[in-house]
Amino acid sequence: MRAVVRSEYGGPELLSLAEVAAPVPAADEVLIRVQAVAVSVGDVFLLRGEPRIVRTVSGLRRPKQQVLGRDVAGVVEAVGEKVTRFRVGDPVYGESDQGGWAELVAVPERFVALRPGNVDAVHAAAVPVSGSTALQGLRLAGVKPGQHVLVNGASGGVGGFVVQLAKSMGAEVTGVCSAAKAEHVRAIGADHVIDYAAEDFTAAHRYDVIFDLVANHPLSSLRRALTPRGTLVLSAGGGGRVLGPLGRIAAASVVSPFVSQRLRPLAATRNGDDLAELARHIESGAVQPVVDEVFPLGRTADAVERLESGAVRGKVVVEV
Ligand SMILES: NC(=O)c1ccc[n+]([C@@H]2O[C@H](COP(=O)([O-])OP(=O)(O)OC[C@H]3O[C@@H](n4cnc5c(N)ncnc54)[C@H](OP(=O)(O)O)[C@@H]3O)[C@@H](O)[C@H]2O)c1
Repeated sequence: MRAVVRSEYGGPELLSLAEVAAPVPAADEVLIRVQAVAVSVGDVFLLRGEPRIVRTVSGLRRPKQQVLGRDVAGVVEAVGEKVTRFRVGDPVYGESDQGGWAELVAVPERFVALRPGNVDAVHAAAVPVSGSTALQGLRLAGVKPGQHVLVNGASGGVGGFVVQLAKSMGAEVTGVCSAAKAEHVRAIGADHVIDYAAEDFTAAHRYDVIFDLVANHPLSSLRRALTPRGTLVLSAGGGGRVLGPLGRIAAASVVSPFVSQRLRPLAATRNGDDLAELARHIESGAVQPVVDEVFPLGRTADAVERLESGAVRGKVVVEV
């Protein structure tokens, strides 16, 4: 099969299209013929091997995985002998342990769901990592109708889902983004938009929930912008080139037990039930995946460059 491969850590210029062996599904795996696959910030961490802490898992000197790509949408090509929930031909989406920038990928069935019936594969591929992160973070915060939720980084891949899901939960939503993307964030449902270059959101108001996707304010400032019993969801990468967000996560975990506010680091996990729930939100019209630009498989490097440019609204997707 064709796949986009790399053999060392570095930028998108190291990616090339190659013929590789097709994966064989294990007993609990679904083999998916990939129609579309997103490019996410996490893929770029693994591509570059930065922050360096990721190399303790992905390979210290050289990457263990040649083929990246986690958010896949396609059609079931084959199933392992223990798979019970999917059949050949089912339209599905899922979160693979990389390997998705390819024509075929094998994914354990517990990380797969039937994809929403009202969107194409390109829009379905925009959902898994970002949608699950948003859903799991809002669940962690226990958002209730009428609460005021602030989303720092509202115009990005995850932020777009947080804004829409929080609105569907009955929250009043404030999105923080650049002036250039303010209209977009309003269009996906934010009640208020703050241009981060013009206003420091931590200075004026207090919010019941802050969903932080940027990590550009100290914890003390974020706490100042929370109500006394408010919740801070820390989902951002950020941090230095070595440890990334670990310092901030450690600081939040140390402070949280001693204050009335809840400071909650989020490590989103793969979960097929969450994908099924997201599919229901999409089919009801409450959530619409936002796709910035679509590239063919042979231009995956350009898709990575587009994501790294900072100009993206929503998700960048590769069509296979
Ligand atoms: N915890 C987890 O399990 C988990 C899972 C997935 C992702 N993440 C992390 O979540 C973060 C966001 O991911 P993503 O996929 O949404 O990234 P993304 O698509 O690149 O979006 C990042 C957004 O941050 C915004 N931004 C940049 N500077 C800002 C500022 N000073 N104030 C407010 N917003 C600013 C950008 O908005 P403008 O373009 O308008 O400037 C951009 O839309 C990343 O750090 C990623 O590593 C964590």
